[in-house]
Amino acid sequence: MGKDPSKLNKKVSKKSSKNEPMDRITELRQVISQANHDYYSLDAPTISDSEFDSLFRELVNLESENPEFFSKDSPTQTLGSKLPRDNITFSEVEHREPMLSLQNALSIDEFIAFDKRNQKALGIEQCEYFLEYKFDGLGLELVYENGDLLEASTRGDGKVGENVTNNVLTIKEIPRRVELKGLPERFEVRGEVLIEIADFEKLNRQRVADGEPSFANPRNAAAGSLRQLDSKVTAQRPLSFFAYAISSPFDLKIATQVELMEILGKATFPIQKDYVVQSKPEKIFKWFDNLEMKRSQLPYEIDGAVIKLNSLAAQAELGSRSRTPRWAVALKFAPSEGFTKLLGISVQVGRTGTLTPVAELEAVEIGGVTVKRATLHNQDEIDRKDIRIGDTVVVRRQGDVIPAIVSVVESKRTGS
Ligand code: IVH
Repeated sequence: MGKDPSKLNKKVSKKSSKNEPMDRITELRQVISQANHDYYSLDAPTISDSEFDSLFRELVNLESENPEFFSKDSPTQTLGSKLPRDNITFSEVEHREPMLSLQNALSIDEFIAFDKRNQKALGIEQCEYFLEYKFDGLGLELVYENGDLLEASTRGDGKVGENVTNNVLTIKEIPRRVELKGLPERFEVRGEVLIEIADFEKLNRQRVADGEPSFANPRNAAAGSLRQLDSKVTAQRPLSFFAYAISSPFDLKIATQVELMEILGKATFPIQKDYVVQSKPEKIFKWFDNLEMKRSQLPYEIDGAVIKLNSLAAQAELGSRSRTPRWAVALKFAPSEGFTKLLGISVQVGRTGTLTPVAELEAVEIGGVTVKRATLHNQDEIDRKDIRIGDTVVVRRQGDVIPAIVSVVESKRTGS
């Protein structure tokens, strides 16, 4: 989530001097590693997703132009955060199969290139794709043995995650026992843990009332809730889960992603049923545009769509790179949130005489639009969110909706 890009540039100078690509590479690796730590370990992001994506891309490009500076420790080669988390440690769980990330397609052209590559690699004229939501939560792996939930873990660095079994046992939607004929003795289900927007707002109101820092967004609230040492705390948080993958699909005698979803549903895992199968890029983008319009009506946050090859055999044939599978791509919506500073509060007088407090902000670009003001709704809202002048705040703008302040980043409070 975002900070004014111009501010970030002070920390990370944008001009990469041609002679010293290594300086810029080092700088980018540091900034990205720190951002990963804030996001994955502390559940408190300090730069926006879109800013992160753009710095990440710059690093990928610089590294591929300068292969002599390759490092296996670069954030482009690793996942998540390796830095220790303050105070909290969980036991480790090794994933049987690595938990990967997704490559983004930023434009129709990039998607078409992905499609063409798949056609060529598979030697077919047309690929069939499975289109589903990209949930903005955190990945979770569930291990079942003889039908019983044995272990649950976060993604971690992709190879080793945190053991959050006790906390996951408090999530009612996740089956503790699965009885479905044909499932192997041991299998893993993967999906996303979320918190619904209304529950997130309620949770933040409670936290402010209790004098605790509020969460920046539902994703961080979900991550913070799942990664509690005391599972009694997790039990009080309304966490949801959507399953989207299962291991050993070939043992299950299924051939497609669609059948995989059906099996998950039959096995009583919560699944998101608004998925489709589509082949033509223009139809895929039409579905994506529709999804973006539907987005604000969903009870939980999604940040785009995931497009997967529908054929599981084709997925297996294409395989994966170090961080991402070759058979899937993420299409992200235009960013809807950014971080900036609250400079002051003015009062707007409406036609009927109603008074509305308005946040005067340090200009921030969100999804291609410069935002300088946001509504604060009313004094109650300001009190509930504990918004103070000088605070770093999370601003949200989506579609035609008036920009609003979502939350305050308390860790950035200077006290002045
Ligand atoms: S598939 C192997 N499907 O997005 C590819 N992931 O940015 C990754 N995510 O780590 C798993 N919605 O935590 C998949 N429908 C979906 C997803 C999804 C959200 C998350 C997942 C992944 C991250 C990558």
